[in-house]
Amino acid sequence: MLTLGLLTMFAYSFKDIHTFGNTDEVLTERLSLDLTLDFEKKVIHGSCEITLAYQTDKDKVDYVDLDISRLDIESVTANGKALTYYIGKHTADMGSRLHIMLPADKPDKIRIEYRTHPGAEAVQWLSKEQTTSKKFPYLFTQGQSIFTRTWIPCMDSPGVRVAYDAVIRVPKGMTAVMSAYHQQHDAAEGIFRFDMDIPIPPYLIALAAGEIAFKKISDRAGVYAEPAVVEKAAWEFADMEKMIQVAEKLYGDYRWKRWDAIVLPPSFPFGGMENPMLTFATPTLIAGDRSLVNTMAHELAHSWSGNLVTNATWSDFWLNEGFTTYFERRIMEELYGKEIAEMDNLLAQRDLIEDVETMNKSEHPGDSILYIDLKGRHPDDGFSGIPYDKGANFLLLLETTFGRERFDAWLKNYFDTWAFKTMTTDHMLRLMKRDLFKGDDAMWRKLRVEEWVYEKGIPDNMVIPESDKFEKTRAAAKTFIKSGKTDGVKKDWVTAEWLDFLNSLPEQVSRERMEALDKQFKLTDAGNSEILFAWGMVAVRNNYEPAYDAIRDFLTRMGRRKFLSPLYRAMNENPKTQKMARDIYKNARSGYHPIAQASIDKILGR
Ligand code: BES
Ligand code: ZN
Repeated sequence: MLTLGLLTMFAYSFKDIHTFGNTDEVLTERLSLDLTLDFEKKVIHGSCEITLAYQTDKDKVDYVDLDISRLDIESVTANGKALTYYIGKHTADMGSRLHIMLPADKPDKIRIEYRTHPGAEAVQWLSKEQTTSKKFPYLFTQGQSIFTRTWIPCMDSPGVRVAYDAVIRVPKGMTAVMSAYHQQHDAAEGIFRFDMDIPIPPYLIALAAGEIAFKKISDRAGVYAEPAVVEKAAWEFADMEKMIQVAEKLYGDYRWKRWDAIVLPPSFPFGGMENPMLTFATPTLIAGDRSLVNTMAHELAHSWSGNLVTNATWSDFWLNEGFTTYFERRIMEELYGKEIAEMDNLLAQRDLIEDVETMNKSEHPGDSILYIDLKGRHPDDGFSGIPYDKGANFLLLLETTFGRERFDAWLKNYFDTWAFKTMTTDHMLRLMKRDLFKGDDAMWRKLRVEEWVYEKGIPDNMVIPESDKFEKTRAAAKTFIKSGKTDGVKKDWVTAEWLDFLNSLPEQVSRERMEALDKQFKLTDAGNSEILFAWGMVAVRNNYEPAYDAIRDFLTRMGRRKFLSPLYRAMNENPKTQKMARDIYKNARSGYHPIAQASIDKILGR
């Protein structure tokens, strides 16, 4: 009976509604890729050999179902013999099912030859002209959430783990990098080999190719970027090694051997992406003063939360992002002090409360639930700050309640025990109740754990840190609006202080005040992308035309969705800037990544 009890405690099942994979019968254990990048046709072509792991009696497994999206399948074979296959109907959200009939001898490997579609959502192809040196074209991929299927046939579920190896063939003179160990390269021939022998979810398979240089930071950390950017990037991220050390001290060994980062061209649609061994990052983090490195801490933290212990389905996404955001702030605190980490959280808490209000009025009020219902939707459709900051603040409440010693011991043990495994919300809560709460039901109810995870909104026991700094920025905003006096506004504020000040300005700011601020603090010329963005938001809602050229330039020179979406939305909602939004987009759209294009298309109703 004891074993049965234990089994029920640990046995967990889940259904990922965003994959066609028949994962109960067979799993994909390894993908061996041999791919050629054709920059002229914007097509990746080659082969993917899949090693199968039968989950039940082989004889009973008659087929393997994979996810593909607009892949042109040229052949499917096993041991050189053609296999029968069918391709299901394509839908925009899910792509299609590739249904492969297995022959009687139930092969351990199948091989697929294919070509990608030029519009594959995971891939952005940049022309020479879109790069800094303009010598070579560029390509990079973005798998999360369910885009890997647009360039690799696979069981594209975060609940499936695969090892992979790859041969990547690029035009001579170009460099390819992947989220994997680099094997020997024949750079002169344009052939690059990679191996990732640790099984990872397919959304973490990533590739970039272009004119790429490298600068070492430590024996296990370094930065890749276009040659003109690499020095600046390495300076900005010089603390990478220190970050690893701090993270290891908190929650145990770094298990991915190296941590490199690649600074991509400005159209990269995210701040950062935690591709294992090789974080992908936007150049908008290069502020020149290392003030935006929290994103690097965040992506590093994913090496535990997300890449080691992975959300089973996209409804469990908060297990990746909430844990990571909490961990990110612990790294920031350790390296740069408690005040910085708390300011980051306070900024986030404010957005969080606004997010919930907007959601309550939207057609998806349920999106403020941590365990989000994504039935009938694309996972990215439910994307918001909720999994990040409601998640992180739930953990902060536990930390505050139980104390750091007990909480950290629990979290470290969680990462160790579930390393390289998949986690569901339900299962994590059971572990938490047993190991952190030690079964204390009264405390469980008192903290309202289930309300935090399974209900809408923000429970009112969220811990709100006190910040002297933000008291000052808020007072400065008030005084400035009332009297026009700027004594409280400080040139040497850190980024978070500026953001809090700008976010504390009222809905409407007079032209006179806008001009005064801009004149004294040169906000329209801000080189810091976060500050420019926050200022741009104030400018758009107040019809402050002197900032419009800078906004146009910003939206044209980078494609980070976190900046694009709110700015386009604000411009579109203001009748006076609606046309400007469309004009800018008409020009800029072709430079954006397909994922960003899709988001802005929706906002502007294209
Ligand atoms: N994994 C995310 C990026 C992501 C999420 C890509 C969902 C596709 C779908 C990454 O770790 C992330 O959260 N990046 C943030 C940075 C962070 C400091 C909040 C970003 O890109 O802004
Ligand atoms: Zn993240």
